[in-house]
Amino acid sequence: CTFCFLNSKFYSDPTEAVKDIPNGATILVGGFGLCGIPENLINSLLKSGVKGLTAVSNNAGVDNFGLGLLLKTKQIKRMISSYVGENAEFERQYLAGELEVELTPQGTLAERIRAGGAGIPAFFTATGYGTLIQEGGSPIKYDKDGSIALASEKREVREFNGRHYIMEKAITGDFALIKAWKADKAGNIVFRKTARNFNQPMCKAAKTTIVEVEEVVDVGTFAAEDIHIPSIYIHRIVQGASYEKRIESQEEKPKPKKDSDIVRERIIRRAALEFEDGMYANLGIGIPMLASNFIKPDITVHLQSENGILGLGPYPTEDAVDADLINAGKETVTVLPGAAYFSSDESFAMIRGGHINLTMLGAMQVSKYGDLANWMIPGKMVKGMGGAMDLVASAGTKVVVTMEHSAKGGKHKILEKCKLPLTGKQCVDRIITEKAVFDVDKTKGLTLIEVWEGLTPEDIKACTGTDFEISAQYTVQ
Ligand SMILES: *[C@@H]1O[C@H](CO)[C@@H](O)[C@H](O)[C@H]1NC(C)=O
Repeated sequence: CTFCFLNSKFYSDPTEAVKDIPNGATILVGGFGLCGIPENLINSLLKSGVKGLTAVSNNAGVDNFGLGLLLKTKQIKRMISSYVGENAEFERQYLAGELEVELTPQGTLAERIRAGGAGIPAFFTATGYGTLIQEGGSPIKYDKDGSIALASEKREVREFNGRHYIMEKAITGDFALIKAWKADKAGNIVFRKTARNFNQPMCKAAKTTIVEVEEVVDVGTFAAEDIHIPSIYIHRIVQGASYEKRIESQEEKPKPKKDSDIVRERIIRRAALEFEDGMYANLGIGIPMLASNFIKPDITVHLQSENGILGLGPYPTEDAVDADLINAGKETVTVLPGAAYFSSDESFAMIRGGHINLTMLGAMQVSKYGDLANWMIPGKMVKGMGGAMDLVASAGTKVVVTMEHSAKGGKHKILEKCKLPLTGKQCVDRIITEKAVFDVDKTKGLTLIEVWEGLTPEDIKACTGTDFEISAQYTVQ
């Protein structure tokens, strides 16, 4: 008996590996977007017909792939996720009151799972303080008439060293459904590139962890120091028959220029001036990410992507596209020499721990004291907060908002007080628009530091929903 310590059991059929998952079970499902999802195990749940599931998963796949398949068949009762994203059926079921959704900040989700696996019942985080997450009342389930049938609970608040933190409880599951790259015959596993994400912490947080892999290799194939998850956490292993590895998002092809593109380009070029040599930066999808194309050639900026990359590179050429290597916008990317991959819990330790110098992101509204709103319009649009609440709650990280100065129809986005649910309270340090740049003081308010050529501070007053100081040294861009 060579592996009498063997905890894991090898299955030849994924259907066998999931057939005892009962109705009403809580399942932890690995993956970020469609990257690193347990395709074969999800398909097996379709066949087993299990119902009433609570699924803990950062996203819910797309309409016809990944967890989206189980939403369609109404096998899922509740999702615990950070981002509904582009899954139209997910958003529809939620807004129509057919599905319960506990929207949880991405870093909090990752850490709740990590804590669950590590025997820590709860922890305190600054993420979500001053938002619906802390206050409670975030919709979990809507009524047919659009009112809130079930709302989230309020969180306990405590102060440590003058900062406010909220208590978040650990998450554990009955089963974890995991996608890894390879397992050795002793049951140790390794992940590939950004397909690690939530899979790593989830392996440890369920009573029964079921892993599907692309390849089973002999013991000794991985050096002991290169093993990502030791066999002790793994209960069942099955080799998937095939992998589709769909890519969710394609890089936008350049389109003919419109007026809005000129506005965007102005913001992008100004945003690029925020980069300094040696910085670690996390950039939101859209304008912030595009700003990285204009980093001055004589400086080095290390880009972090919260799905698990430090050292993000440019978009790949067509022949170098790899479904296991995506950014947080689910676009395929490349990495630079010296880059590192890691799991989602590790990524948010980096973010929450204040190791990132700059975070740049878009906004729907910003208040004069730096409150930020960018994750939901009640009853209408719920994309989820993704990692934004964690990114802006990090002390020591400069938060720069890039956005168009006004919304469609001229509605103000820079306001006395945000009207939409907040992403973070008093968290924004600078606002960059196509018309102006403001510095934000969390107690004194806004100071205009730059205006675009051809505009005056009076023009900015006319199109801004709150008052502001004008810097004596304000410059014209
Ligand atoms: C980035 O942050 C670290 C501390 O977390 C600091 O030591 C370093 O100087 C910062 N770098 C830049 C370029 O701001």
